[in-house]
Amino acid sequence: MELTQAHRDALTEILRWRRDVRHFLPDPVPEDALGRLRAAMDLAPSVGNARPWRVLQVQTPALRRDVIANFEAANAQAGAVYDDAKRNRYHALKLAGLREAPVHLAIFTERAPKAGHGLGRQTMPEMLDYSTVTAIHTLWLAARAENLGVGWVSILDPAGIATLLDVPPDWALTGYLCLGKAAEDDDTPLLHRQDWQENSQTDWRVI
Ligand SMILES: Cc1cc2nc3c(=O)[nH]c(=O)nc-3n(C[C@H](O)[C@H](O)[C@H](O)COP(=O)(O)O)c2cc1C
Repeated sequence: MELTQAHRDALTEILRWRRDVRHFLPDPVPEDALGRLRAAMDLAPSVGNARPWRVLQVQTPALRRDVIANFEAANAQAGAVYDDAKRNRYHALKLAGLREAPVHLAIFTERAPKAGHGLGRQTMPEMLDYSTVTAIHTLWLAARAENLGVGWVSILDPAGIATLLDVPPDWALTGYLCLGKAAEDDDTPLLHRQDWQENSQTDWRVI
């Protein structure tokens, strides 16, 4: 299939307006949109076509409460590494929309899947985790095309989340995502707008 300038323009807009979202509206995400996001993940690349990502949609209120508690403990600890001034700035940032987001997705990587027969991961087993990341990014872009926002929450104790969600021992947490309608729309990262970390250009050299 030969793609056109219209496709490129549409992709550029999706890339440009994709944000990490921490402020969500409580509106539910329609099931058909969730189905399309799942289908988008099916299109993601993976090492050896192993497709090691495993998605748990966490709906049970008690589990979500425990995930929030896990985040709050990890976030309090994360702030402790900074000096006073920076710690205050850190804690002023909103780094997860776990309370408001209508959908929580815990995304794990199965560390020894039969699928793929080991192809491509003998010298770099971390390729399995990278494969899951490609699926997450595919979901992220597909969500933006549905006018939905994704927030990646990494300030968590992964072993605690795995225990809480009772996953098999060879599943490792890759990302915990909040999904829903964004309360605000911007083409610039929030951390840039809040003066925590400005954007920079990709370091790309020809050698
Ligand atoms: C692997 C990964 C983990 C992240 N974890 C967090 C997180 O725990 N909390 C948070 O607020 N943002 C998190 N982010 C979002 C980044 O802060 C965000 O992508 C970056 O500031 C650029 O903003 P943008 O995504 O809006 O372009 C994460 C992003 C990635 C790719």
